[in-house]
Amino acid sequence: MSPRSKPDSTKCSRRRFLKATAAAAGAGLAVGPYVLRAGPSPSSDIRVGVIGAGTQGRVLIQNCLKIPGVRFAAIADIWPYSQRYASRRLQAYNQPVTPYEDYREMLEREKELDAVIVATPDWVHAEHAIAALEAGKHVYCEKPIAGTYADGKAMVEAAREAGRMLSIQLATLFSVETKAARRLIEEGYLGQLYFAKSVGFRRRGRPYVDGYGTANFVQRKIAAGGALLDMGVYHIAQVLYLLGNPEVESVSGATHQQIPMYEDRRKQGRYDVEELALGLVRLEGGLTLIVEESWALHLAEAGEGSRVVGSKGGVRLSPFGYFSTVADMEMDASFILQQADWRWHQCIADTDAYDSPQAHWVAALQGRVPLIDTAGLALATMRISEGIYLSARLGREVTADEIEGNSKSTALKL
Ligand SMILES: NC(=O)c1ccc[n+]([C@@H]2O[C@H](COP(=O)([O-])OP(=O)(O)OC[C@H]3O[C@@H](n4cnc5c(N)ncnc54)[C@H](O)[C@@H]3O)[C@@H](O)[C@H]2O)c1
Repeated sequence: MSPRSKPDSTKCSRRRFLKATAAAAGAGLAVGPYVLRAGPSPSSDIRVGVIGAGTQGRVLIQNCLKIPGVRFAAIADIWPYSQRYASRRLQAYNQPVTPYEDYREMLEREKELDAVIVATPDWVHAEHAIAALEAGKHVYCEKPIAGTYADGKAMVEAAREAGRMLSIQLATLFSVETKAARRLIEEGYLGQLYFAKSVGFRRRGRPYVDGYGTANFVQRKIAAGGALLDMGVYHIAQVLYLLGNPEVESVSGATHQQIPMYEDRRKQGRYDVEELALGLVRLEGGLTLIVEESWALHLAEAGEGSRVVGSKGGVRLSPFGYFSTVADMEMDASFILQQADWRWHQCIADTDAYDSPQAHWVAALQGRVPLIDTAGLALATMRISEGIYLSARLGREVTADEIEGNSKSTALKL
């Protein structure tokens, strides 16, 4: 299959978002914005290669095996164990793949690949994704988009130049709560949006030092940051998506590492990242976004969950709720989301194309639905995250231009 049409842009401007949103709402569709569209439906399977078959690469392979129309053809990983493990797993599903140690050899030899999944560590996303895009492949890449904003931007530019689709894993965009919130926004129940809060809360859940996950998550040189880059990516991107991905104007932020941890785990894990990140972000059009992301915080919960608020109503994502004033009475509303979601699946075509990031990416490659601009959202999220780190370091608010100017590539040249 070969979706040919070149995406007109990898950035979702607010105006275009609103236009696309109106069209989607008119068509009775569940989500948008729709910014990148593939060609007509392919008649054959999508042939996929994987770069990085570690923990998350295997999860992605397993998820894609459940999606009709995907055929794995090759795996590249520098670790023979990862090559073997993934190859055997795929063989068991009657999908024999050619294993490679060097991804460049895979891209050189596997001319028939339509698309590549990148699930390597953050600091090599740019190297791998850009090479795959330049080889003419569509790319699905793990979050965060890259180790830094500069590298993420280079990936988005490479996708634009190659005319190929770049999608970043942002699972929260595909939750039923996000779809419900978008419907309320599209149908005008929130009025003029002006305030949003992105919240992620863990009472005590720092990777490695609190007992799970690897030390890769807690070392700045590998993960580039802590709670903000690990989990904040999901929550910030979700809220930006609901707001229509407005331009970032400035960011004020602070990071904290206060709660004691087991000393031997801290040393072994070389823990040097934040457990709490806070931000105040000024967005285009007078919108204000507050960011609060914790891996560890002495609270029962961090207030209420992520939310978006407008002149007519507000929506909270978790637990899901809608708040307004009706007949001059304050109203708190709940919804039966599972029932609505079931009905949408039965009655509205292509609802399954929004079931997960992988399902969406595949449906976009098949030309069934336009691709949500996850790369644009992930890049804006990275700008905000780097803005919080930069502001915390400088002790003052920073502009979007300053964030961009300070962002340096950490991409490894392999
Ligand atoms: N593990 C999770 O729970 C999780 C969840 C969501 C997203 N992610 C993201 O997934 C990505 C991968 O994380 P992971 O946890 O799977 O890491 P991992 O260390 O388990 O796996 C990474 C794999 O990439 C391979 N690799 C490293 N450098 C390579 C190179 N130059 N060429 C080819 N292969 C190379 C490694 O050998 C390994 O098999 C990261 O971006 C991470 O942020 C991870």
